[in-house]
Amino acid sequence: MVAAITPVKKVLILGAYGMLGYDLQHVFPGAVLRGHDLDITDAGKVTAALRDIKPALVINAAAYTDVDGCEDHRDVAFGVNGDALLSLARACKDAGACLIHYSTDYVFDGTRTSYREIDVPHPVNAYGESKLLGEKHIRETMDDYRIIRTSWLFGTHGKNFVETMLRLSREMPEVRVVNDQFGKPTYTADLAQKTAGIAGLDPGIYHITNEGVCSWFEFARAIIQNVVPCSTAEYPRRAQRPAYSVLVNTKTTPMRSWNEALTAYLKEREA
Ligand SMILES: NC(=O)c1ccc[n+]([C@@H]2O[C@H](COP(=O)([O-])OP(=O)(O)OC[C@H]3O[C@@H](n4cnc5c(N)ncnc54)[C@H](OP(=O)(O)O)[C@@H]3O)[C@@H](O)[C@H]2O)c1
Repeated sequence: MVAAITPVKKVLILGAYGMLGYDLQHVFPGAVLRGHDLDITDAGKVTAALRDIKPALVINAAAYTDVDGCEDHRDVAFGVNGDALLSLARACKDAGACLIHYSTDYVFDGTRTSYREIDVPHPVNAYGESKLLGEKHIRETMDDYRIIRTSWLFGTHGKNFVETMLRLSREMPEVRVVNDQFGKPTYTADLAQKTAGIAGLDPGIYHITNEGVCSWFEFARAIIQNVVPCSTAEYPRRAQRPAYSVLVNTKTTPMRSWNEALTAYLKEREA
């Protein structure tokens, strides 16, 4: 369960009906909620909405998150994840609002075993490129921003790896999962809660994940029993994935481990 805070400032949540967006709603009760009805690629509508709502804090959870889809629909990916952030950052600056935006471990190439906030990004797929463009627009346009890079999200309000594993485990005798891509699974309820704390910290980039590193296979083994390891070469996808997309948080207190978070998630989905 996500604990609510009582915000003293007017908060606007964009992408409020996505997986993370739903958990943000619980952390920021009273926030103005906008879903896909406010298309963030429509600069005129975004500017008008901010003038009308006059938020002190804008939290943007809207994104095009289909990593393979981004390869086939680069224009959509770069529009939603990249260019939309230029107009959103301008509108936030004009309105005097702070912007909290989410980015991804996939801005890194995974050739090193871990990445700090100051490390230089180098994406290997269109999703990562488009998210990095969004980061660049924000950093170059405004000062009062928090960019939260996170990874491998699972939450009760969206399609996610945990649900996919539970479904496949029922449908087939043996589930094959890659054992050579490593990252940090992160519960959206924990990330939403942590977002409230990040709002009070200095502007900049933050790496926020649950603690602990695992491969997708190791993550799957914590969810289901009938899983066997395979290699990325045996399971090709349209988008290349970084081998090690491990974000290191050097700026704020760590969150609980992904194992603990997974246990909480599994309990929550049964409730
Ligand atoms: N999921 C992950 O594993 C992961 C990992 C690292 C970082 N992140 C980042 O974390 C953030 C939240 O991710 P999530 O998993 O919660 O995403 P999600 O469940 O896919 O939600 C994204 C929301 O954005 C909305 N949206 C898409 N295009 C839009 C547009 N043009 N205008 C307004 N809304 C639009 C979607 O609406 P529709 O459903 O109607 O399209 C959806 O409700 C994103 O910034 C993502 O890049 C996610």
